[in-house]
Amino acid sequence: MATNAKTSSSSTRPGTKQSETRNSVLDLIEQLDVGAAIPSERQLCMDLGVSRLTVRAALDDLVRDGMLIRRHGSGTFVSEPKIAQELTMTSFTEDMVRRGMVPGSRTLDLHVVPAGAHLGRLLHVSPSEPVVIISRLRLADRETMAIETLHVRESLVPGLAPDDLERQSFYDILQERYGLEIVGGIQTIEPTVTNEEESDALGVPLHSPAFLFERTTRAADGGIVEYVRSIYRGDRYKLVTELNRRPTRSRTTR
Ligand code: GLP
Repeated sequence: MATNAKTSSSSTRPGTKQSETRNSVLDLIEQLDVGAAIPSERQLCMDLGVSRLTVRAALDDLVRDGMLIRRHGSGTFVSEPKIAQELTMTSFTEDMVRRGMVPGSRTLDLHVVPAGAHLGRLLHVSPSEPVVIISRLRLADRETMAIETLHVRESLVPGLAPDDLERQSFYDILQERYGLEIVGGIQTIEPTVTNEEESDALGVPLHSPAFLFERTTRAADGGIVEYVRSIYRGDRYKLVTELNRRPTRSRTTR
């Protein structure tokens, strides 16, 4: 207990001035539109009756959590809410359309290589099997969201061209052109930071927080269709899952 209290002393513990200030600023954010400026630190000190240090720490916290954005010389503003990504077997296009956003895809690279041992294992093919590797920038309402590196056996998608993926969803192409229906898969999610290449493509600073999603997808016949490594912007995404508690079986008494 004592150790916990010590290690978390600098964070926003419930009941502290800083967490109360954070909650008050969150109340304020709820009443403002995206892009609106919040009052100055000095004003917040007076309104909330706390020190400048407390206000600044609470604002730092909210900037770090992506609720606020600081623009040097002009102030602090309400940021665009993060996209709450459900952990479902949907495509990027479906996810964005469901949110009322316009999905976009820019093909950065497409080339074919022999699978090799590692990819071969993931895609359940021999190391000599040709595999198409496609790197795509995913956009929503023209804003960069993720970079995806898609690996798919060439024989499954003959003639697939870079432009095809800029015009149509990959999952739709699979179904409509190649008659492949995605039925399930496995996905892992890990925290990461962007490397130089990813930062450049996404337009974020080097080593920005991000989520690494790795998905292996199965078709109706049980075959592996794709293996995808996706880097999603940590400042634009949060993960959401619905939790259902299994009913506890009451003990039967005789
Ligand atoms: C998500 C998944 C990818 C999948 C993609 C298909 O982003 N992480 O594994 O390839 O959706 O997206 P779309 O059908 O929009 O091209």
